[in-house]
Amino acid sequence: MRIIVCKDYEKMSDEAAKIVAAQLTLKPDSILGLATGSTPIGMYQRLIDMNKAGEIDFSKVKSFNLDEYYPIKADNNQSYRYFMNENLFNHVNIDINNTRVPNGEASDPVEEGKSYDAAIDAAGGIDLQILGIGRNGHIGFNEPDENLIMGTHRTMLTQDTIEANSRLFNSIDEVPTQAITMGMVSILKSKMIVLLANGKNKHEAVKKLLDDTITTSNPATFLKTHPNVVIICDEECYNG
Ligand code: GLP
Repeated sequence: MRIIVCKDYEKMSDEAAKIVAAQLTLKPDSILGLATGSTPIGMYQRLIDMNKAGEIDFSKVKSFNLDEYYPIKADNNQSYRYFMNENLFNHVNIDINNTRVPNGEASDPVEEGKSYDAAIDAAGGIDLQILGIGRNGHIGFNEPDENLIMGTHRTMLTQDTIEANSRLFNSIDEVPTQAITMGMVSILKSKMIVLLANGKNKHEAVKKLLDDTITTSNPATFLKTHPNVVIICDEECYNG
């Protein structure tokens, strides 16, 4: 696991965008694993700028997003599908049919999970997975628990996550209590993983990535078992 500590959020977003750009240069038909949340927004803005400047091309890219609230309609402005369209897909030359987000309207979430993992495998696996991290160490919506789940599945959100995400809703009562998320193995099968974290409130979660323990009480610590992970964080997050 490598760590790149950047002066601030802007620099962090630059570094992350450079890695995605390099990936698309090396393999124009890359399979990208994408994340929502406030953290990757700066990176997405840079990728949009690079695409508009003709520096990177998304025309052959396929993408799979980590997670989606459940149940939620795709056109709800709180859905992660809506977020991705607004923050990236509508502004770059990606074929929207090549973008997949877990279906928050699936009548059978178990089946949705199975077909999601099968689609990732059929595409050849994720080349580059972008991750944020919850302040409790969750990745995707794999929340701290005694047992973690391998494949894409429906899950309950913890109270901590509901509180953290309530800042984006009118009230905490509007925050969905469930989600469909890629599982731990769905994530760990990716060939390369870049985890982004900024700000003091991620310090404790990120600190646990830098010692030599693995624990289901911080799911992100399982990234230590992966041979190709880069953490990009800002000084505030690193120093606490
Ligand atoms: C959300 C998402 C995660 C995201 C994390 C951090 O609940 N499920 O995929 O990485 O929490 O979000 P933020 O970047 O807004 O801090």
